[in-house]
Amino acid sequence: MVKDIRENIDNKSDVKIKAPIVDALKTAYENPTYQFHIPGHTKGKAILKDFRKLIGDKALSLDTTDEFDNLGTLHPATGPIKEAQELAAEAFGAKKTFFLLNGSTAGNLALAMALTKKGQKIIVNRNCHRSILTGLMISGAEPVWVCPNRIDDWSIWGNIEAWQIEEKLEQDKDISMVWVTNPTYEGVVSDIKSISAVCKKYGVPLIVDEAHGCLWNFNKHLPETALKLGADAVVHSLHKTGGSMSQTSMLHISKESCLDEKSVEKALKLLHTTSPSLILLASLDAARANLQSQLGLKQIDKAVANAKYLRKRLDEIPNLHQLKADFGYKTDVTKVFIKIDGLSGKRLESILEIDFGIEVESASDIGVLILCNLGNKRSDFKYLADALAKIASENHKDIYYLEKRKHMPMLEPKILMSLREAYYADKETIKKEYAIGRISAEVVAECPPGISILLPGELITEAHLPYLNDYETLEVVKE
Ligand SMILES: Cc1ncc(COP(=O)(O)O)c(C=O)c1O
Repeated sequence: MVKDIRENIDNKSDVKIKAPIVDALKTAYENPTYQFHIPGHTKGKAILKDFRKLIGDKALSLDTTDEFDNLGTLHPATGPIKEAQELAAEAFGAKKTFFLLNGSTAGNLALAMALTKKGQKIIVNRNCHRSILTGLMISGAEPVWVCPNRIDDWSIWGNIEAWQIEEKLEQDKDISMVWVTNPTYEGVVSDIKSISAVCKKYGVPLIVDEAHGCLWNFNKHLPETALKLGADAVVHSLHKTGGSMSQTSMLHISKESCLDEKSVEKALKLLHTTSPSLILLASLDAARANLQSQLGLKQIDKAVANAKYLRKRLDEIPNLHQLKADFGYKTDVTKVFIKIDGLSGKRLESILEIDFGIEVESASDIGVLILCNLGNKRSDFKYLADALAKIASENHKDIYYLEKRKHMPMLEPKILMSLREAYYADKETIKKEYAIGRISAEVVAECPPGISILLPGELITEAHLPYLNDYETLEVVKE
């Protein structure tokens, strides 16, 4: 029986949570050596003075890579790094966990390289992150697209239904894997339990890109993690919401999975740098240890309570709307997507930034996305709610902007050529107005959220134009 970390919050014991990479790095710092190895800035002695002042001597002294100072290696995992990955697997309820230094992007690429082959058919949701597409372009597997429900009022893709997956699996017995994203960027949650049951019925593995859900295993008011609901592999961007440093993530293989974890490990070795940053690895170790600790569990509880407070305040503001759970889908309470009547999301974003010094996660043509982070205080949310109340009380008429600009792609792709074939085809770059009727040869995806507007192999139509305001030219397959 897996011990549920979420129950630990009432346990008052002050057990020190192990963080082996953090401890090893501390020991290395306290026992400096004469350094004749990389990195060549040599503990910050040979680096721009202004940069050293900015970042601090200590950070530069700690900047080292694996192999040195008894810090272990990442590939293969040895020493403190191996131990830290094992502790992470235990904390997230996985059989095996790999630390990722190029974000969940590296995890998705490795999963595609390891688990899919040229010509294989893989069910993928249309709003997947572009890293999954890149992975499939490398492996040559073919996506079978599933379009999630559309939440038209908010111009976003919503949840994926289990029957949609089942329909595709029933229609095409050659499909060999299902790869879904949960939650969406805006926090819409699909029924992964039912999707997993369908995958098991048809005997295909289920991969869940849970990049935005790494806190879920640690709080019972958040949705259930896919590792508990039957997924075979899951990626988590710890750096997004879990407290580790930018570009660090984790890839987990579930306890019940028969996936070939050795080939995942080999793919990661090929994809990763051969000089991994120990600071980044230590930050993953530290984030996991924090999330498991009494303090971390309380921080998550506080973030949930702050999100509920913010949502209550927002409910009281006329002209302001927030995306909430609806029939058929749930939401992650900590991701608050809002809109104000008469105001585009982009305008709202700039008013918040310029007039109030508030920076939100992102803005679309419709609204802005607010993340209720572990590090935010209640007073931050009070300030934000007051600012939004003030903005919403002004009579905005930002219609022109709304008509002119669209960010979130809400189109079903018309695929004329395989992803890989189109990506590697002879290409030409032409003005976007002349590209209508041609086949895209590139992934066009704005970040965030990195969801593609156009895929290689997809027919470019007039309907794409409103989403391409930032592009003058497009790469198309040569005729
Ligand atoms: C759903 C999803 N998957 C994967 C990624 C890639 O994550 P990372 O930035 O950690 O590489 C993102 C990034 O935004 C994402 O939204």
